[in-house]
Amino acid sequence: GTTAALIPAAGSGSRLGRGPKAFVEVRGQSLLARSVAALRPLVDEVVVALPEGMELPPGLDARAIVGGATRQDSVARLLRATSAEYVLIHDAARPFLPENVVLDLLEAVHESGAATLALPVADTLVRAEAGGNWGDLTPREGLWAVQTPQAFRRELILKAHAQAVTGGFAATDDAGLVARLLKAVGNGRVRLVPGDARLFKVTTPGDLALAEALAAVWDG
Ligand code: C5P
Repeated sequence: GTTAALIPAAGSGSRLGRGPKAFVEVRGQSLLARSVAALRPLVDEVVVALPEGMELPPGLDARAIVGGATRQDSVARLLRATSAEYVLIHDAARPFLPENVVLDLLEAVHESGAATLALPVADTLVRAEAGGNWGDLTPREGLWAVQTPQAFRRELILKAHAQAVTGGFAATDDAGLVARLLKAVGNGRVRLVPGDARLFKVTTPGDLALAEALAAVWDG
């Protein structure tokens, strides 16, 4: 079946404070350009959701649409902009995509219809108490940190988004919506596919420093 890569890139990047985050450059290449270049050879088309009034920078082999007020809304618009059988949804804020884990993800979605990259949590986890003090320890055993890309049969993720709109609930990620739908129908699972530390999300100025250092190695 055909596969479309969908990239929500319509966020304002307020935590980073450098304008729309997808357009922030790391060693001369924007976060968005890095994601498009990595995904384009692996899929049939790439569609990007951009902030209103912004255009796709020249040289990117992708189609652009206008995003929505929330990430979920931007993804819903992207889903309506393609007719591919499978969609791979990827945040522009994660610019370093090792090809092998993306191929693992595509294999998993072809088998099971829903899959996401994720990493077992390595750090000790604690819930903070008021005032910034140590509260309850959360056993990290069995906990995974969820990354993107995530991949689904398009029909399945469309249903999950429709259910979220009807039910009035939000999720910060699409696998969460699909898992909720699958639970409701009592059939099917979202596969967890081991991701890669280099797929970290650029969110804060500290992350940007990390991205600069990694890019020096990544770009050769
Ligand atoms: O803000 P955060 O890093 O969680 O955003 C995750 C991704 O969702 C980013 O790539 C951002 O551009 C995108 N986004 C979007 N539309 C919005 C808000 C965020 O496409 N309204």
